[in-house]
Amino acid sequence: MYVHSFAGGWLSHPLWRSRLLISSNEELERIRSSSSEIVIDTAKGCDVATARPIQTPISPRSTRASGRFGRADQARATELAQRSKAVVNAMFADCRLGKGVPTNDILAVVDDIADSLNNIAAFISVTRLKAQDDQTYTNSVAVCALMISLARELGYPAAAVRDLGMAGLLHDVGKSTISQDILLKAGPLNEAETIEMRRHPTQGYDILAATTGLPPVALDVCLHHHERLDGLGYPFGLKAEAISTATRMASICDVYDAITSIRPYAPGKSPLEAVTEMETAEGHFDRALLFQFMGSIGVYPAGKLVRILGDRLAVTLPHNHNGIGPVFRTFYSTVDTRFLRHQDVILTEDLADGTTVIAEDPGSWFSEPWATMAARIMAGDRSV
Ligand SMILES: [Fe+2]
Repeated sequence: MYVHSFAGGWLSHPLWRSRLLISSNEELERIRSSSSEIVIDTAKGCDVATARPIQTPISPRSTRASGRFGRADQARATELAQRSKAVVNAMFADCRLGKGVPTNDILAVVDDIADSLNNIAAFISVTRLKAQDDQTYTNSVAVCALMISLARELGYPAAAVRDLGMAGLLHDVGKSTISQDILLKAGPLNEAETIEMRRHPTQGYDILAATTGLPPVALDVCLHHHERLDGLGYPFGLKAEAISTATRMASICDVYDAITSIRPYAPGKSPLEAVTEMETAEGHFDRALLFQFMGSIGVYPAGKLVRILGDRLAVTLPHNHNGIGPVFRTFYSTVDTRFLRHQDVILTEDLADGTTVIAEDPGSWFSEPWATMAARIMAGDRSV
């Protein structure tokens, strides 16, 4: 067995070299008894059923979140988030005074966020932190960033990306008409407060309709972002066919930000917990868009069937917390229609060429129940 690398620091290595051919049981036992994870190169040595083959990096679109960022990225993201929140705060104040939306200021914020999105992970990370008195403004900024990221993942042209970012930033402008007592209430709202709060989409639409120069998609998203595909949303109870793609995108971004927000009275869920919960919310979200959203933030629940590298079916592996991107285990060729030797592929943005991750329906490929099959592949069962 050829060891390609050890995870962790040098001191934790059970052997004296990082890369070497394991040729004795003694060396194998030293590895087994250590806490180090290893990556083996099956091209240079034997393979084992439960080991992870050498990991091949592939690159997503360069704007996809990587989950890796340094202090400088975080400092820049924090500064931009503070600046953006200040503009949104001022916009809400203007709206309360009946002045309407300061379009140029808002557009500048959208452009600044769009320009910063080469490392969206840092920006989204800092906007998860919600202070009690500015959570509405921070949510607006976060939804703007998530919308831009998702729009780019979908391959929209720059002008459409900008409009969708603006729609994200303005989606909750109607909350400027809601009393602070209701907006900042930490506990659940009573019936009267809920009725009042649910006026914000129509109130926001009225504000935006009175402003010139805004893209129509901003009005659409503002009015409909609390509608659900199953018709259980508000204010109109629209069903799927009446809900636009932009609104479906905004609904995903808005709920994701709400679930992952870290508030003074609640810790918030992790990105993986959030997308897993959203995927099981029957009838709420557009599933195809939700999958694209997962790609835009670089987080997939384990056990999903995807197609990568053009013709390979793969299973998403449990999320790795070592700072690397999502890992997929390829096992089937769609061209040759045959099972392949497993290979683990890391999604990374270090390489220049892009690749696409496509959700696949297991039922259209395999007769075996997918949950069973996925579990076997994830466990390293080479008969699959
Ligand atoms: Fe809202």
